[in-house]
Amino acid sequence: MTSTNDIRRSFLDYFGAAGHRIVPSAPLVPHNDPTLMFVNAGMVPFKNVFTGLESRPYKTATSSQKCVRAGGKHNDLDNVGYTARHHTFFEMLGNFSFGDYFKEQAITHAWTLLTREWGLPAEKLTATVYHTDDEAFDLWKKIAGLPEERIIRIPTKDNFWAMGDSGPCGPCSEIFYDHGDHIWGGPPGSPEEDGDRFVEIWNLVFMQYEQEANEIVSELPRPSIDTGMGLERIAAVMQGVHNNYDTDTFRALIEESGAITRTATDGEFQASHRVIADHLRSTSFLIADGVLPANEGRGYVLRRIMRRAMRHAHIIGAKDPLMYRLVSSLVSEMGGAFPELVRAQPLIEETLLREETRFRKTLENGLRLLDEATVGLNEGDTLPGETAFKLYDTYGFPYDLTEDALRTQGLSVDRAGFDAAMAEQKAAARAAWKGSGEKASDEIWYDIAEKAGNTEFIGYTAMDGEGQVLAIVKDGVNFDSANAGETVTIVTNQTPFYGESGGQMGDAGRITTQGGFAAAVEDTAKPLGRVHAHRATVEAGSIKVGDTVHLAVDVDRRDRIRANHSATHLLHAALRKELGAHVTQKGSLVAPDRLRFDYSHPEALTHAQIAAIEADVNAQVRHNADVTTRLMTPDDAVAAGAMALFGEKYGDEVRVLSMGRSGPLGDDAHYSVELCGGTHVRATGDIALFKIIGESAVSSGVRRIEALTGEAARLWLTERDDKLRQTAAALKTTPEDVPARIAALVETSRKLERELAEAKKALALGGGGAAQPAGPEKIGAIDFMGQVIDGLDPKELRGIVDGNKKALGSGVSAVLAVVDGRATIAVGVTDDLVGSINAVDLVRAGVEALGGKGGGGRPDMAQGGGPDGDKAQAALDAVKAALANVPA
Ligand code: ALA
Repeated sequence: MTSTNDIRRSFLDYFGAAGHRIVPSAPLVPHNDPTLMFVNAGMVPFKNVFTGLESRPYKTATSSQKCVRAGGKHNDLDNVGYTARHHTFFEMLGNFSFGDYFKEQAITHAWTLLTREWGLPAEKLTATVYHTDDEAFDLWKKIAGLPEERIIRIPTKDNFWAMGDSGPCGPCSEIFYDHGDHIWGGPPGSPEEDGDRFVEIWNLVFMQYEQEANEIVSELPRPSIDTGMGLERIAAVMQGVHNNYDTDTFRALIEESGAITRTATDGEFQASHRVIADHLRSTSFLIADGVLPANEGRGYVLRRIMRRAMRHAHIIGAKDPLMYRLVSSLVSEMGGAFPELVRAQPLIEETLLREETRFRKTLENGLRLLDEATVGLNEGDTLPGETAFKLYDTYGFPYDLTEDALRTQGLSVDRAGFDAAMAEQKAAARAAWKGSGEKASDEIWYDIAEKAGNTEFIGYTAMDGEGQVLAIVKDGVNFDSANAGETVTIVTNQTPFYGESGGQMGDAGRITTQGGFAAAVEDTAKPLGRVHAHRATVEAGSIKVGDTVHLAVDVDRRDRIRANHSATHLLHAALRKELGAHVTQKGSLVAPDRLRFDYSHPEALTHAQIAAIEADVNAQVRHNADVTTRLMTPDDAVAAGAMALFGEKYGDEVRVLSMGRSGPLGDDAHYSVELCGGTHVRATGDIALFKIIGESAVSSGVRRIEALTGEAARLWLTERDDKLRQTAAALKTTPEDVPARIAALVETSRKLERELAEAKKALALGGGGAAQPAGPEKIGAIDFMGQVIDGLDPKELRGIVDGNKKALGSGVSAVLAVVDGRATIAVGVTDDLVGSINAVDLVRAGVEALGGKGGGGRPDMAQGGGPDGDKAQAALDAVKAALANVPA
């Protein structure tokens, strides 16, 4: 038997040998198309190559592309499990020519591979062509020698393939395999074509046009080829089975679920086992590509698929969560071809286990409610929409799960009633929101979110992508368009731009269109916590609501933000380790150029503590351990050791970021585990370097650390080093000797200051020439000694005046010190004279002359000062004049 893995390999090898570049499958989440939920065909990753927007270093390619068809234009979810060939996840084998070969070569390749390489009998194959495509008709005759009755002209859109309402498209030619007359059905185009006998195995699309809103708008630059062959279908053909679920990969998964649940896989539970196997594949591959269960967008499609499978696990009587136990089988089947599955295995298992554990809690109650509600309903009846809504709202039953549950009884669901109940709940939520005193300016965002849904953030994995413009807001008002020169806020259905939240600043970058629109996004906010609002200045062109735009985050800026955010987590953990568990986060700012972290702690950090924290964080950086993200309920997260912020509002689910290593290599305990919605580095090594540059108080009991990472940290250190070098040069020494040199200089300078002060004092006391006292002189009958000393420390004045008093025996002394243009005056009166002369009065006379006010002290010793140091001599004269006036 040829295994599915062999078939994939052989397909790629065939086209590889024929000069095609073998391109690995792109991730399931398309970032080049906002209208697509998931990649749903092999050509999607090449869409822009077909239209000429993007060029690649090859003109032909081949791939086995992962596809999900659940939600959006191609949605097969409802049929899965009940038909032979519907899947939510499948692989599409394809060969592509971007303006290289066209119809003839495409048909030749297909025919050669099928009949020569793989040995399929020619008589079992039939081709269809678009009814007007004579060229393809003739080529099938010529190349394959097919008789005319086995080249069937089809006039419908079945033979005109389009990726979606917009994108490349063209007429196509399909190859059918005849499974034999033991199966009912007729060839395509016949009245029995819906039967299962003739199965389409390969579609060759002759890509020629581009369409927009379902209208052909232009021809592609060059005719191209896109082909698609469902790997599971061709595997069924080559393995001689009719049903895809009987091929090797599916058998392995189905047998595993049969073995674990000890149930037969072909009896009454056959459909359930098939659903589980199919949904296990889509679920696991979506998680591996970064989708996590959520309540809207892609995450909600994932959740719907998971829950649908989980209900089937319940049907076959699984007592415990089942899905996660099947992942290792899937990995052994498909991990060889898809290494991302191997890498994500722990995350897939955890996510499935958590979701199933959680859903099982409400599943039984919901099913009981459903049973009660369907009592009395007969085949063909409809379940009321409110019941379906209650199941959705209270028990977490997605709408399609309820539909699936009723399917076997032939019951349907009143969709309109379900939608009405949903609308009513939204109206109530809105009334409650308005009543809660929210900002009126936020109402516009509430309207936008309600009308268009929350913005889907694709920026955890992508840095650029396409989005559809949902709203343009200017000065708080909705507009239909934005034009050059305007500053507006643009809202799209999905975006890679992070909206400011949790301390992390919003992203900046560019929004452009093929039509020449270009805008610089300065910042992205996140009003209501769910709308990503890009504040942008339009540089050229214009856009209107409904347009598709390309959103590109400023990658360098975001990389710096990521590094700073992850460093904040490591810092938080290091602080707790160094200071104790009382440390909790009180606030943070994660900017591109720096980070700030506020935390509770009663005192300043010592230098040694800062050094230890810095060393610890940098050790984690050097470990370069992967940073992992898990989705958990807040309770599970806290149980897993996550640091939760007390008083913070968390949703049903939180992202849990784990990073670093707390023990030796091999010990998988993480250094830091935190709840966080921010964007982070892939591995701690991306932080490169961590440097604390500030430690301060914010308020009592709250401290702040400021730090840098990566290039900013390096630059900061370099700048410091430069300053040190300059200092060393000025000191004529080496940087190493600077501290010793400075210590010596400080010591010398202190010594000199001391000596200088002493010298000045000595001078004032008569040791030198310039400042010798002028007296004693007689003012009336009183002996007076006055002097002005430049540069004298005013603290010395009293000592000098006291000395003069002693020298006089009986008399008055006034001394002025002039420093930096200011004068201080002290006046002393010997005790025998205080009865008639008051030192305070004399000082006041001097102070007035110095342009000052007041002056005070005791009758025997007073002091004051004034700004006019150059009037010192005049002040001395004023004192003398005042003394002359004292009545004897
Ligand atoms: N793109 C084509 C398909 O999906 C081949 O059928």
